[in-house]
Amino acid sequence: MKRIAVINQKGGVGKTTTTVNLGAALAHHGQRTLLLDLDPQANMTVHVDKRPDMESNTLTNLLIDDTPLADLVQTTGLANLFVVPSDTSLAGVEQVLANRIGRETILRRALDKGKAEDNFDFVLFDCPPSLGVLSANALVAADYVVIPMQAEYLSLQGMAKLLEVIDLVQTQLNPNLQIACVLPCMLDSRTNLSMEVLAEIKEHFGDLLTKSRIRNNVKLAEAPSFGRSIFEHAPDSNGAQDYAEFAIEFMQKIGMHDVAEAALAALAGDEEEEEEEFEEDEEELEGEEFETEDEAAGSDEGAEGEVPEDEVTENEVTEPDAKATPQPLAEKAIATTSPEPPLDDPELVERSDEPPAAAEASADA
Ligand SMILES: Nc1ncnc2c1ncn2[C@@H]1O[C@H](COP(=O)(O)OP(=O)(O)O)[C@@H](O)[C@H]1O
Ligand SMILES: [Mg+2]
Repeated sequence: MKRIAVINQKGGVGKTTTTVNLGAALAHHGQRTLLLDLDPQANMTVHVDKRPDMESNTLTNLLIDDTPLADLVQTTGLANLFVVPSDTSLAGVEQVLANRIGRETILRRALDKGKAEDNFDFVLFDCPPSLGVLSANALVAADYVVIPMQAEYLSLQGMAKLLEVIDLVQTQLNPNLQIACVLPCMLDSRTNLSMEVLAEIKEHFGDLLTKSRIRNNVKLAEAPSFGRSIFEHAPDSNGAQDYAEFAIEFMQKIGMHDVAEAALAALAGDEEEEEEEFEEDEEELEGEEFETEDEAAGSDEGAEGEVPEDEVTENEVTEPDAKATPQPLAEKAIATTSPEPPLDDPELVERSDEPPAAAEASADA
């Protein structure tokens, strides 16, 4: 059982999207995968089509009442993909556990206890955007960390603190913990800004930075409201392509070369098939002048979901080519100032959408 914490204390960087779609990809490749929603906002619970306020069995039961994991696991619409949902009750957990000894190791103990019976290949933790008890539980229970990041100015701020916390957990509570990768999400490769921030992330993280890039893709933003992963919602979209590639790279990074090879072969097979269909469609179209352009688009990008393939006759009807040469933009000036991340990051202390527990505590005082 491999345990993966998807973590970044910044909100809105792609944690939940990555957890769900990496999980769905792993499940698709035959890996029995369990998703744990550790965020009281319960976005992941919604993303896999569960309603947070209707769930009586949530992660809160495991953390507070010692309910065995097996009693909390639910199926999802996908074979091999399971979930333990959360709801807002999780927001109170930090406070309830504040004085409990061993509060950081509850999740690990629960997973260790359940290990024998439920034989999951993967457990993915979708972490909240804070570094409190819930995130600590994830890091203590995890074998690997995946850090989704936005390639934005200031996105490296806060990283120093996250790395410090990971280091602390490694030395004190979980020597097995490793950073698997840093994944750039919501990338707009048309701007020099993104490219320059990426170069900076590369400088900091070296080979931990994935080769995969998750581009900005509206289908990824839509999928949660349908309660589906990107692979069901828009299998031909850039989003599906990016997460499929990332899942394979991820498996390679953690040493699952056999499964990654098989997945890669399957992906290549799919693409060939698509290309064949594409060429058949093309033959039906008259006008040979489009052929070279379309072939280039097909091999480079894969088909974009919004536009049915057989309507793609000219590049201008597709979404602007994300891999096109970056346009010179005004932001370039900003990006060149790119600072080192400050070590004492004020942002880090606590964030505004912190669970209400903290607010209550100070109100009581
Ligand atoms: N690559 C992407 N392109 C477009 N929208 C995205 C992408 N990744 C995530 N989103 C959207 O951005 C928002 C924040 O992403 P989310 O995964 O929920 O971040 P986090 O869990 O870190 O807060 C969500 O509305 C999500 O649907
Ligand atoms: Mg989230």
